[in-house]
Amino acid sequence: EQSQDLKGKKVLLTSGPTQEAIDPVRFISNHSSGKMGAAIAEAFANRGAEVHVILGHGAKKPQHANIQITPVKSAQEMYEAALAIHSEADICVFAAAVADYAPKDVASEKIKKSDDHMQITLVKNIDIAYALGQKKAAGQIHVGFALETENEVFHAKNKLAKKNFDLVVLNSMRDQGAGFQHDTNKVSIFFKDGKSIATETLHKKEVAELLVKCVKELPIEI
Ligand code: PMT
Repeated sequence: EQSQDLKGKKVLLTSGPTQEAIDPVRFISNHSSGKMGAAIAEAFANRGAEVHVILGHGAKKPQHANIQITPVKSAQEMYEAALAIHSEADICVFAAAVADYAPKDVASEKIKKSDDHMQITLVKNIDIAYALGQKKAAGQIHVGFALETENEVFHAKNKLAKKNFDLVVLNSMRDQGAGFQHDTNKVSIFFKDGKSIATETLHKKEVAELLVKCVKELPIEI
């Protein structure tokens, strides 16, 4: 019997990829399957928390009576949906793979093939974790991810500080069975106080349960 120690707590979670439209038939996206996010949503829900998931298109849908899903496509939509409930959330987990840039203009008709080269101008998207990190109130916990390919620890620690996270979960594309698409992940978790823990390759469900444990052990009264 799972303990219901997070009953009455609200969790906001972003999960899956964003899609940034180029024209009515094309978009820019990434390989996120939503498996990591779904496992986290279920781990919190199993502990009694009410979980609100802002879910990128096509990502794995978590299943639990305590989970509510808001489907979105673009980073901007994901931000607006997350912002709408951020102030009520006790714990926020940013597991989504959000496009950093989006096409400046979305063509209203399908772009026709013509020259050998074409250019699409991109503009920076809002950073959801950073923007909500600026609004974080005392007693709110923010958990971020860092998906890296090089200088992993440096970048992860940088994101921990810059985005006002309480802890950051690093997964590296250099590790086998880690990151996008896999049923498994291999992570290092960095805390604000300098403490860190590293795992072997674990099922995403086990990583999610470890994350819940780390959140519960934070010196923050929620
Ligand atoms: O979905 P899966 O296939 O299971 O794969 C899981 C995962 C690899 C997507 C997941 O474990 C993960 O690492 N998610 C974060 C991916 C990412 O885009 O990381 P990042 O290092 O680019 O971003 C850092 C943090 O800022 C993340 O918490 C991200 O959600 C957040 N962010 C980034 C950009 C942006 N515009 N808005 C954000 O909120």
